Amino acid sequence: MGKNIAVIGTGYVGLVSSVGLADFGNDVVGVDLRKEIVDELNAGRPTIYEIGLEGYLQRNLEAGRLSFTTDSDASIRDADIVFLAVGTPPAEDGSADLSYVETAARTIAGNLNHYKVIVTKSTVPVGTNRSIQQIIAAESGQTPGTGFSCVSNPEFLREGKAVQDFFHPDRIVVGCEDDRARSYIEEIYRALYLIQTPFVWCNLETAELIKYASNAFLATKISFINEMANLAEAAGADIHVIAKSMGMDGRISPKFLHPGPGYGGSCFPKDTKAIAATGDRLGVEMSVVKAVIDANAAQKRITAAKLVQAAGGVKGKTVAVLGLAFKAETDDVRESPALEIVEHLRVEGATVRAYDPQARDTFAAELGDAGGALHYCTTAFDALTGADAAIVLTEWNEFRNLDLERARSLMAGNVLFDARNVLDPMRAREAGFSYLSVGR
Ligand SMILES: NC(=O)c1ccc[n+]([C@@H]2O[C@H](COP(=O)([O-])OP(=O)(O)OC[C@H]3O[C@@H](n4cnc5c(N)ncnc54)[C@H](O)[C@@H]3O)[C@@H](O)[C@H]2O)c1
Repeated sequence: MGKNIAVIGTGYVGLVSSVGLADFGNDVVGVDLRKEIVDELNAGRPTIYEIGLEGYLQRNLEAGRLSFTTDSDASIRDADIVFLAVGTPPAEDGSADLSYVETAARTIAGNLNHYKVIVTKSTVPVGTNRSIQQIIAAESGQTPGTGFSCVSNPEFLREGKAVQDFFHPDRIVVGCEDDRARSYIEEIYRALYLIQTPFVWCNLETAELIKYASNAFLATKISFINEMANLAEAAGADIHVIAKSMGMDGRISPKFLHPGPGYGGSCFPKDTKAIAATGDRLGVEMSVVKAVIDANAAQKRITAAKLVQAAGGVKGKTVAVLGLAFKAETDDVRESPALEIVEHLRVEGATVRAYDPQARDTFAAELGDAGGALHYCTTAFDALTGADAAIVLTEWNEFRNLDLERARSLMAGNVLFDARNVLDPMRAREAGFSYLSVGR
């Protein structure tokens, strides 16, 4: 008989995991506190923007393998495997706020009616799975390994490619310390075995740290290339040729060597801060990660200041912002550079006309109309109309192919700052722009 799965939390990770696990043939219930999300999902409407998600959602709802509910107690009691995919946002001091994880662990303990495997997909600091195990053992009176098992299964999906990543992961990391739990995990991920996905089996602490080490390393690559880009620009070199040549070295790899306005999103900013906080807690100096955090904050400030300087000041001027999401193919704006840069422009006295193909509503939920300084537009050309200067902040494909002659003719000024290096500098200059990019 197949295993019943409950997934607690149906945000980016929980929703994609629910849909993916159902598509592997498992019976899945996605649980969320927010009734409005649950209702939308049961109606077959994705609550986040991810390519391909809608089709998989509807297909599995129709097949009867997938449903969504706010009833965590009943879903946990019915489940053999409970995934934790709740948020772990940064607390005031930079450490991960584990209150959602702990609440969910207590709910599981209160509904431990038979053996279950508790699988943490949320990104949690090293030691958290061990303390989840203790919470559940203390509150349920059950023994780890026999009454229940805790497994760490960190998620590596990229927003914007989440569905593809779920079905074709580079690897599956499983912190798992008993054979019974291992057999459950092998069963639900059988489809990935068939396509020969590498599985890394290790203890709980190792699995937890693999996730943070990976994100901290990727953030380091981005901050490194951003600093190199600033240096290349000051020295008259071309960062693209530099990055490409660096990437030809197999030890370096060409990925994550694209300069820009600084990393954002729901993972790199919070995970770098959390691992630095973990180092402080354990008395280990994380000087590289701390430098990366500082360099990233500086990159956002440098980007905003460069735009203001190129425009000769922005007081009383109109600036078009193309792209609000922290990267292309997502509607997520958490820690997006656009939040800080729009705010900087507002403080400097500019009016901002912003456009994003997907992130308008999520951005408006964060920043509103920025005290009347921010206007949301329905197309890139709408945003550019009458603008004195423009900045590209997200690498959406539609900006790569922007009709530059038309853009120039609609704008009042000619400053164009391509903070993602998606445009052809020669074509931009031919169209009459005073064109700036990053590191070239
Ligand atoms: N977003 C990503 O790209 C990504 C990638 C890898 C790992 N992660 C990690 O996965 C975790 C989840 O991230 P996310 O972006 O999906 O978060 P999210 O904020 O989008 O979703 C979390 C969901 O959990 C729900 N929730 C919270 N407490 C609950 C409870 N007790 N019962 C039921 N529902 C509850 C919330 O209502 C929310 O819908 C985080 O730890 C994150 O670091 C995220």
